Amino acid sequence: MRLSVVGCGYLGAVHAAAMAELGHDVVGIDVDARKVAQLSRGEAPFFEPGLQELLLAGLRSGRLRFSADPAALSSADLHFIAVGTPQLSGGAGADLSYVDAAFAQVLAHGKDGDIVVGKSTVPVGTVERLSGTIGRDAPRVTLAWNPEFLREGHAVADSLTPDRLVFGVAGGSRDDAAAAALAQVYEKPLRDGTPLIVTDWATAELVKVAANAFLATKISFINAMAEIAEATGADVTQLADAIGHDARIGRRFLNAGVGFGGGCLPKDIRAFQARAVELGLAETVVFLDEMDKINLRRRSRVVELAGELLGSGPAGRRVAVLGLAFKPDSDDVRDSPALEVACALRAAGAEVVAADPHAAANARARDPELVTVDSADEALVGAELVILLTEWREFTELDPERTAALVSGRRIIDGRNVLDPEAWIGAGWQYRGLGRR
Ligand code: UDX
Repeated sequence: MRLSVVGCGYLGAVHAAAMAELGHDVVGIDVDARKVAQLSRGEAPFFEPGLQELLLAGLRSGRLRFSADPAALSSADLHFIAVGTPQLSGGAGADLSYVDAAFAQVLAHGKDGDIVVGKSTVPVGTVERLSGTIGRDAPRVTLAWNPEFLREGHAVADSLTPDRLVFGVAGGSRDDAAAAALAQVYEKPLRDGTPLIVTDWATAELVKVAANAFLATKISFINAMAEIAEATGADVTQLADAIGHDARIGRRFLNAGVGFGGGCLPKDIRAFQARAVELGLAETVVFLDEMDKINLRRRSRVVELAGELLGSGPAGRRVAVLGLAFKPDSDDVRDSPALEVACALRAAGAEVVAADPHAAANARARDPELVTVDSADEALVGAELVILLTEWREFTELDPERTAALVSGRRIIDGRNVLDPEAWIGAGWQYRGLGRR
């Protein structure tokens, strides 16, 4: 099929390359000419395992190309909208200006019979609103929403072999032209047994928001238990193991620590609340405000623990921060708990030296005064306190004896509860996990 993907960020670049891998002819469109040039050379503009290889394979096959000119989408018959929906500056709701602009571009360069499929995460009611903006002179297009569930760090696998597909089409009928076209787009994963739900626009929009709200709630629930554990001498990791054995609960996404961040979960739960207020349903999702607060409290808790461990507070003390990305295998620092803690400690006067294998440049772009180094060892030398905030493998595998020889004070905060406390305590360290004895 001939496809276009409008927006080549964390979502669109991977989606475009994945669609070419599935055998389609794809043009990826982005307003950023530098990014388009990079993608066209087969260079991933951000760190995502496997993306570089997928891009190169697509470009070599001749089925994948990129353009900064929106007119290039006219060569396709089905257009994916994959632009960002960040939090509004100065508000909790989603900024839909990029979605609106992308939709206008597709209408400007598309033709009668084209299919327009949104992938971006949008508040419920957006597709209905977009369909109402189609002018009389615009081409007659069919509109659908096909929410994306990819996780950064696993985006390639999530795109090629998704755990489910959701097609939101007008009226929710499988007979809809867009449902049939999407079934062709995803013919391979569907043949391989990927579950498919064909539904209406509103449900498709809500599925994504509900999934992220649920995941955020699960993480904040266990972090609330961590707060209780801290006050009572219980251990939240054992608690999570014990309740996670109940198949109805499940152990995944029950890792207590410094909490969730990134470009999705935080802004999605805020946008959901903003939309609920518009719908007169503020009370229905008021719990999400608590989830957000629990999550943000974990960041302050780490800063507080740092002060406690250092005795006289962080001012003038050398602190090694391990990790800046919001999670491992990503260079994304949007709403990153790790970056926020590093900046808060620096603001409190600490001499912070941070290491992250891939996110240091993005972190410095947000906070140019942040001191970053290339390796954990460089950050550790002379540190009076070590704080692990992103569970990159090279940090979780640190040896307590070897690390002790580098630092000037054996104090460690395990912000992700991934180290073995006994091993660290045995090597003479003062160890603090979050919600751990
Ligand atoms: C999320 C959703 O998982 C994905 O389906 C959606 O498409 C986009 O948003 P992503 O933002 O890539 O994906 O990250 P995810 O793996 O969900 O992690 C989110 C945050 O939660 C990270 O900061 C992670 O460190 C944190 N987390 C995750 C925890 O603190 N504890 C856990 O148990 C799991």
